Amino acid sequence: MHHPIEILSGVYYVGVNDRRTALFENLWPIPRGVSYNAYLLRDDQNVLVDTAEAGRSGFFLENLRAALGGEPLDYVVIDHVEPDHSGSLREVLSAWPEAVVVGNKKTRDLIGRFYGFDGAFHEVGDGDTLCTGKKTLSFVLTPMVHWPESMMAYETSAGVLFSSDAFGSFGTLDGALCDDETDPGGYEGEMRRYYANIVGKYSPMVQKALGRLAGVPVSAVCPSHGLIWRKDPGRVVSLYDRWSRQEADPGVVIAFGSMYGHTESLADDLARLLVEEGVSRVRVFDASRTHPSYILSEIWRTRGLLLGSCAYNAGMLPTVEQLTAKLEQSGLADRLLGFFGNYSWSGGGVRTLEAFGERTGWEVVAPPIEARSATVLSDRDRLAGLAGAMARRLRTDR
Ligand code: FEO
Repeated sequence: MHHPIEILSGVYYVGVNDRRTALFENLWPIPRGVSYNAYLLRDDQNVLVDTAEAGRSGFFLENLRAALGGEPLDYVVIDHVEPDHSGSLREVLSAWPEAVVVGNKKTRDLIGRFYGFDGAFHEVGDGDTLCTGKKTLSFVLTPMVHWPESMMAYETSAGVLFSSDAFGSFGTLDGALCDDETDPGGYEGEMRRYYANIVGKYSPMVQKALGRLAGVPVSAVCPSHGLIWRKDPGRVVSLYDRWSRQEADPGVVIAFGSMYGHTESLADDLARLLVEEGVSRVRVFDASRTHPSYILSEIWRTRGLLLGSCAYNAGMLPTVEQLTAKLEQSGLADRLLGFFGNYSWSGGGVRTLEAFGERTGWEVVAPPIEARSATVLSDRDRLAGLAGAMARRLRTDR
């Protein structure tokens, strides 16, 4: 970039793309990359909102320098200390040592521990304001969206919300920075995967934050990852509202682990039987092939869930085990469940799936199906029973 990009009156985008990191948080695959968004508000006093991950600090500083156009930097607002956003703080303060860092009490504590920061700090609490001339930032503390110190900054004169992780997405900004410059629908899948895996656990806090924003006029949403919403900010707010309410669509996700294809065959049969029962949205995932972050994203929006596994060392296949562990940690609300699998001698796949179901307390729609070795076809009637029970339960759910 390196040339000033004014996305809103007096608001410049100074963020950077990252196409080099394979795993976000060293956990989540990001084949479409990610952006670390940061913003410069130019006014009588200039304010930087957030920085960028340390590995991209060179490009980020060049963007910031270009947007400042030789003017001083007066404030650096740290909405969130997670290093994907605060990772260039040291470099910023080294280049603009006069800048005062703005954050809340917890921010100060965390940047002290992460960066040894003990410089000029302006502490703000919930509802406090910072006037920079024509613009005024009002701070909204939003703990656990996504860390305890997380907050948002709302520019009151134009109604611009700097929302930090909330309303963010995986995926780089490929030339188009804003929702009116591209088809925002192209980001929805990565937005939901980001939500389900990074923010979803804190859905009650997201609801609380949305409640705080109710009635506040928002003309634009500037998150710290992904598209900027200046044409239709209501669209991203309503998506987050739906996901954080955990409203699921009728449909079924089937996720399985299969060593030699026999449990997979059961999954395919179940998928067909569900469609014959009138379930129009069925998605089948091989847990050994698809990263759990993608499967969780699909489960997040889907009411029915059929989990299958062959037996493996008296338990389920480790890739299914990884998925169920993720489900248990995700904060996901109840799903309609069913289990299936396959074994040849002592079993364990279905048994441990049932134990997972008991731990979650989610509703199990029918007894599990467990086939033996390659005798999968003889269990078709029982499979039809499971598919039928799921389809009926989805119908009564409406
Ligand atoms: Fe994008 Fe919680 O950091």
